[in-house]
Amino acid sequence: MKPVRLAILGLGTVGGGVLELLQINAAEIKRRTGREIQITHVGTRRPRPDLNLDTSIKQSEDLLNIARQDDVDVVIEVMGGIHPAKEVLLEAIKHGKHIVTANKALLAEHGNELFKAADDNNVQIAYEAAVAGGIPIIKVIREGLAANRIDWLAGIINGTGNFILTEMREKGRPFADVLKEAQELGYAEADPTFDVEGIDAAHKLAMLASIAFGMPLQFSKVYTEGISKITAQDVKYAEEFGYRIKHLGIARRAETGIELRVHPTLIPEEQLLANVNGVKNAVLVQSNAVGPTLYYGAGAGAGPTASAVVADIIDIVRDISYTEDGAGTIPHFAFEDLTDLPILSREDMTTGHYIRVNAEDETGVLADITTILSRAGISIDAIMQQTRLKDLIPIVILTDPIKESVMDDALAQIQALPAIHGEIVRIRLESLES
Ligand code: HSE
Repeated sequence: MKPVRLAILGLGTVGGGVLELLQINAAEIKRRTGREIQITHVGTRRPRPDLNLDTSIKQSEDLLNIARQDDVDVVIEVMGGIHPAKEVLLEAIKHGKHIVTANKALLAEHGNELFKAADDNNVQIAYEAAVAGGIPIIKVIREGLAANRIDWLAGIINGTGNFILTEMREKGRPFADVLKEAQELGYAEADPTFDVEGIDAAHKLAMLASIAFGMPLQFSKVYTEGISKITAQDVKYAEEFGYRIKHLGIARRAETGIELRVHPTLIPEEQLLANVNGVKNAVLVQSNAVGPTLYYGAGAGAGPTASAVVADIIDIVRDISYTEDGAGTIPHFAFEDLTDLPILSREDMTTGHYIRVNAEDETGVLADITTILSRAGISIDAIMQQTRLKDLIPIVILTDPIKESVMDDALAQIQALPAIHGEIVRIRLESLES
């Protein structure tokens, strides 16, 4: 059998990791595919002499040209960003190349167009590395759980954010300092606001939801909040109640539609997810036959991401060998026919809350707050009034799940009380029970 020929676009952290992995595990990979894999082209603007690439590999900056070459069967896109990645991949698809990509921003925002082009041209787009790094969560949902109806999933799907929250909680390190370290370790996005403002997690959640529920990608409808406003004070109060604050992506099938949300979330400290620390990712999936299952591992970095990219390459090589056209047998989203399930607006989503207000130390203020909550039908789960800090007293309240619009109204009333100072802190809370 002829070798399967690869073009690798991008020689950054992930591209370098892929080349290294193909090399160090060449014997294992060959045994698993029964076939040679040959890198014929590398596309990059920044050559990497340190990688000692074989001189037979053609190197060029002209990515569109590489996408058209006859001696390429699979294009590996590990350069990131929307442009020119989108144009290059569309060109490659048009020329009958299969695609392996780690590019979550590109797929979440333009995936509907790319997957349609791939279906029209009978090629595959494999994207395991785009979500949760080395955890094979795409394969789990598309294949392993294919017999189930998925009710909800909740995941720590941004390694950088989890690394920052962990270091803040365990070592009291300042936010900016930990972010800098995450950048140096190659975890953070080129634009780190994607990590800290939840955009990267929203990209990944949009993809997970499409696979889980069989609907088109709808990144723009994900309610997204980052971790940049989380303070050490709230981390400490959450712990006093027996909770940890984690940055979660949650996709849930509700009665009237699908909730898609990314935000800091209090979760009970005994939950496995609460104990996922550092750059690790984890996804908890609640399905109707198997029940809850949890997937855990490294969510970022060269080795873990390369592991997912190379697994996709192996799948495609096998499909090229064993199917007529190599187009694969599993639909891109695991569903043949996609449905247009409505995505709920934030106001219609339901979740528990952690509320912190700073109040003047005067008679009746606690009663005023609890009266507003009770009139709104919001059930208080726990309450804590701290001793005086300067002139104001922090009051922390945990509530049972409530519709966001109801909480919006109640918080507006509390905010308007004359004894309340500063902006109310509001963090979502999930018990994650099945
Ligand atoms: N910046 C991402 C993260 C990289 O920290 O999770 C992996 O997608």
